[in-house]
Amino acid sequence: MRKTTVLIGSLAAAALAVAVDATAGPDQDQLVINSETLVTEAASPEGHPIDTLYSGWRFRTDETQALETDDFDNPSFVLVEDAVTRWNTVEGSAGKSCASCHGDVTETMKGVRAKMPKWNAEVKDLWSLENYINDCRVNRMGAEPLKWAKPETDAMVALIGLQSRGMPLSVDIDGPAHEWWEKGKDMYYTRYGQLELSCANCHEDNYGKMIRADHLSQGQINGFPTYRLKNTKLNSIHARFKGCIRDTRAETFKPGSAEFRALELYVAWRGTGLSVETPSVRN
Ligand code: HEC
Ligand code: HEC
Repeated sequence: MRKTTVLIGSLAAAALAVAVDATAGPDQDQLVINSETLVTEAASPEGHPIDTLYSGWRFRTDETQALETDDFDNPSFVLVEDAVTRWNTVEGSAGKSCASCHGDVTETMKGVRAKMPKWNAEVKDLWSLENYINDCRVNRMGAEPLKWAKPETDAMVALIGLQSRGMPLSVDIDGPAHEWWEKGKDMYYTRYGQLELSCANCHEDNYGKMIRADHLSQGQINGFPTYRLKNTKLNSIHARFKGCIRDTRAETFKPGSAEFRALELYVAWRGTGLSVETPSVRN
């Protein structure tokens, strides 16, 4: 049985500040997928404001949790299969597929997702997985770039991310990436919208509690893209950020924007050590 505190009334900061239940916390379940145990609870890296990090999986109901433990039940896998087909399909003026250069995705894309986003020294920019995919499409295949936060893109990101499943998130925040991390951190603590709520107000100060009918997690991104039962599709990291900011009734940033890539780096760091769960299932 999950112990939670119900927050009644509006989502306003004042309401969030009341009724802190010290015993509230995630379930103690273990996530086992294909007989492999994933890390859903990890000690935080130095300088992290929270001691123990929890995957969002730990905050979901038993029914939702179960869907992620079996790839046949996980609705993402139909979409991942489509991405496998696309991986092998020739597109663009160079007459190449992803496989022409990268071969078997299960071998060549292992570990890639666990390090994203990362500093790209060649172009001097912080790149998410989507940027790398599009760079190959445009500059190496002569194909059209994929749009951010669209089904085809999210499925390809999920296929590549799956190859890191079980590996710990471990982004590099040193060197030129550090100022992006700082920028992401600033955003995380900025109060947005009419409700004047920051990411931290919900995901740091109040995780483990109920917000309306939703059990608040730490807002980790180790499971992304994630299949949401609510909209029955894969959801990208940036689409989730957009949704959370919009819920505070604020203007938001665009998927793919420098702001969201900075926030992605910072939030990825906040999940250091949690297993990549891609593609996860959430409500
Ligand atoms: C013409 C050859 C070629 C094609 C076709 C190609 N790529 Fe690449 N890709 C590369 C090269 C070269 C790199 C850079 C490798 C490196 O720096 O380790 C790369 C890098 C990447 C990376 C970043 C890997 C990392 O470790 O950072 C991803 C992700 C990627 N490609 C995905 C794709 C996808 C998806 C497709 C098909 C839509 C594709 N690529 C098509 C040659 C290609
Ligand atoms: C008003 C409270 C609130 C604010 C503010 C908020 N979120 Fe959320 N967020 C939620 C709720 C509710 C969910 C769905 C339940 C959960 O996983 O916590 C959620 C889910 C998420 C998830 C998905 C977690 C998973 O495991 O699938 C991420 C990532 C996330 N939020 C990031 C952010 C970021 C980054 C910000 C700041 C830009 C933010 N949120 C601001 C309420 C909030």
